[in-house]
Amino acid sequence: MSVRSSTATAASVADSVWRPMARHLAEQLDADGDLHDPRWREALLEVPRHEFVPRYYLQEEKPPDRRPRRWIAHEPHDPDSTRRWLDLVYSPTTLVTELADYAGRGVQAPVSSSTKPDLMIRMLEALQVTDGHRVLEIGTGTGYNAALLTHRLGGDHMTSVDIDPDLISDARCRLDRLGYTPTLVAGDGAAGHADRAPYDRIIATCALSCVPLAWIDQLRPGGLALVHIEGPLGAGNLAALRRLPDRPAVEGRFLPWWGCFMRRRTAAGPTVDVPRPRRTTELPTTRTTDVDPAELDGGKGFPFLAQLYLPSGMYRAITLHDQTPVTELRAPDGSWCHITHEADADGLHGVREAGPTPLIERIEDAWHRWQNLGAPPWHEFGLTATATEHHVWYRDPHSGPRWELPVPRIPSPRQP
Ligand SMILES: C[S@@+](CC[C@H](N)C(=O)[O-])C[C@H]1O[C@@H](n2cnc3c(N)ncnc32)[C@H](O)[C@@H]1O
Repeated sequence: MSVRSSTATAASVADSVWRPMARHLAEQLDADGDLHDPRWREALLEVPRHEFVPRYYLQEEKPPDRRPRRWIAHEPHDPDSTRRWLDLVYSPTTLVTELADYAGRGVQAPVSSSTKPDLMIRMLEALQVTDGHRVLEIGTGTGYNAALLTHRLGGDHMTSVDIDPDLISDARCRLDRLGYTPTLVAGDGAAGHADRAPYDRIIATCALSCVPLAWIDQLRPGGLALVHIEGPLGAGNLAALRRLPDRPAVEGRFLPWWGCFMRRRTAAGPTVDVPRPRRTTELPTTRTTDVDPAELDGGKGFPFLAQLYLPSGMYRAITLHDQTPVTELRAPDGSWCHITHEADADGLHGVREAGPTPLIERIEDAWHRWQNLGAPPWHEFGLTATATEHHVWYRDPHSGPRWELPVPRIPSPRQP
């Protein structure tokens, strides 16, 4: 069951109030080095973000009991709340706009948001659009990014898809009201939208485990797709992938900076909610490792590389074992390991492990490879994706070291 973000119009806000705030946001993005292109600056100044975010959800402070933190709806209802709402809307902040309880356990989790404007603008600049380009966006959400793109390119050139029909109808109302008329489609964006293909650009604002074949088919040769690719442990980043001229494949590098997105969902629910592999009951052995499990967190390339050394279908969590935080890894064959976060006097971390796959050894292999490569930044890695294979490579797609990215089957219907 999903919690609907209000279809009601945003509280009426005078131009004299929101325009200076949009200008201030543009100046901030400018100063931070996120905004360079005057055409995107103009879009930022002209498209009122508050019209797309009539309500947002913030997570409550940690409750004293052990129940999960709840999401609290915030919307403007008096001068104070209106000021707080506008301050957040015109700041580089991601705002959660939609919650759902797919598992039916009474726990709501975010399923849509308005992406933080600094990240959005960086992505739009990385998309390298020019007049006349036809763009497909996956993940319409509030419609704000579709509005920026429509402002820049015109409604005829813009198509946006979201899995959630209610989000599409809300976005359509907001865009119509402002005079923007992109094509909006309710459906699984993994199928793209063949009716309006080919596209010069595809921009995905949800994370995927692989590049769907439909996108490769619907992208013009030489066209660019900006896609957040993540592996089974949820580590990933945006890659700028060009459609190759001579074969149905896309290829390109990860972007130098890190951006994070909610994972693609299907009509049945989020694709992250996969069943946890069962642990083997075999007795564990113990040892130590020089790999700090904290390295598996965050936006660096190492967690991404580590996934390429592990079986697909892995599960990772941070849990308490004997009151000590541990990173737990489980593989589908029942293998598991616990790595303690605290290091001993020699800087080593305790490991308990069991099962047929030596998970900690795989992590160590990845770690030493990463160190030998000089802990490279994201953009030294790239991806080549075809209908059947995805390869991650280092520096050069042909001569550099490369690793297979396990590609789960995404239902990605080839259009007739
Ligand atoms: C971060 S939000 C998008 C933000 C949006 N671009 C904006 O400007 O508000 C991610 C969106 O991806 C959508 N999404 C998730 N899975 C999808 C799928 N399989 N196909 C299309 N959209 C999907 C979600 O419903 C959500 O609205």
